[in-house]
Amino acid sequence: MHRYFKNSVIKQPGYGAPPQEAMIAKLNQNESPFDLPAALKQDILGRAAALPWNRYPVHESPSLKTELARWHNLSPDQFLLGNGSNQLLQTILSGCIEPGEQVLCCPPTFSLFEMYIELYGGEPLLIPYLPANTAPEEQIVQAIQARQPKIVLLCSPNNPTGSEFSPSFVEKVCHDASGLVVVDEAYAEFSEQTFVPLLQSCKNLVLSRTFSKAFSMAGLRLGYLMADAEVLAQWRKVNLPYNVNLFTELVGITLLAQRDVIRKQVDYIICQRNWMLAQLNAIPEIKAYPSAANFLLFSCPDSKALFSFLKGRGILVRDVSSYYGLGNHLRVNAGHEGENQLFINALLEFYQR
Ligand SMILES: Cc1ncc(COP(=O)(O)O)c(C=O)c1O
Repeated sequence: MHRYFKNSVIKQPGYGAPPQEAMIAKLNQNESPFDLPAALKQDILGRAAALPWNRYPVHESPSLKTELARWHNLSPDQFLLGNGSNQLLQTILSGCIEPGEQVLCCPPTFSLFEMYIELYGGEPLLIPYLPANTAPEEQIVQAIQARQPKIVLLCSPNNPTGSEFSPSFVEKVCHDASGLVVVDEAYAEFSEQTFVPLLQSCKNLVLSRTFSKAFSMAGLRLGYLMADAEVLAQWRKVNLPYNVNLFTELVGITLLAQRDVIRKQVDYIICQRNWMLAQLNAIPEIKAYPSAANFLLFSCPDSKALFSFLKGRGILVRDVSSYYGLGNHLRVNAGHEGENQLFINALLEFYQR
């Protein structure tokens, strides 16, 4: 088998998709706990049925880009659409990385970063987070000055730490870097900040967003990049044509018209996240970190035993103990109030509090 494939493929373990069993509380993939209301689904299905499914969708979904441009106050040519933001990570790396070129990223972070950098022949330049989840800002600046990587790939809020870089820091990175600065903002809707205003002045800044979290569309796959139009023009040649199907496009456009509903759901999730943080830190064995995303990272004395105990109670969290520097850590996302309460009750039971 080995002779059929590239070495960079053979040596990868592949994406370890977390379990998706039916559970009482599924808090392991940072999804939205809110599905679309049944009436809205019916309405969308009706409109989808009236579309010609035998025809290709309109190339590059101009109507969706127009709605996104309105949402972010940018122009439609500053958007590139993807079949989920993961697919756009492939577009980014395959369009830019020649064998051996460096991509800076900061572990622990989204597991696909390192995997795809290597699959596309790049060399990860790893600048780890510091203890207590401190962003390694000084070290990033030094590495950029010394090595000038082809791409600086950051995640903010970062999965799985929940920590953020500041806009002034990202602006400095864009200024210092001779290459592109890509920031995965998959969780930006749960944060009080975004780097979108920096797109005006930082022509090498690229922001990646997804509809999988705040917009409840993980099952339908929609993501997008925001950047300078000239930068995106190159990736348009790399991106697969018709990568967003007409149903996903229709749901995306529909949800962008529901700004108040999305805002209300995001506020609910933030409120639940903050409640869970306080509850977690009230348990002496646990140390949970503040988070600007829809999930929390916490350490505990025996993460494997706790993970299994929770699973036995029908509660699924993410075991991140194999991530860089995160031995004995778990990640849990904010779900519905009832699910979150079950999770906290199970922890209290486990620690006999
Ligand atoms: C940082 C980050 N980026 C991207 C994704 C995936 O986004 P999508 O569903 O749009 O591919 C995730 C999913 O968990 C994530 O944590």
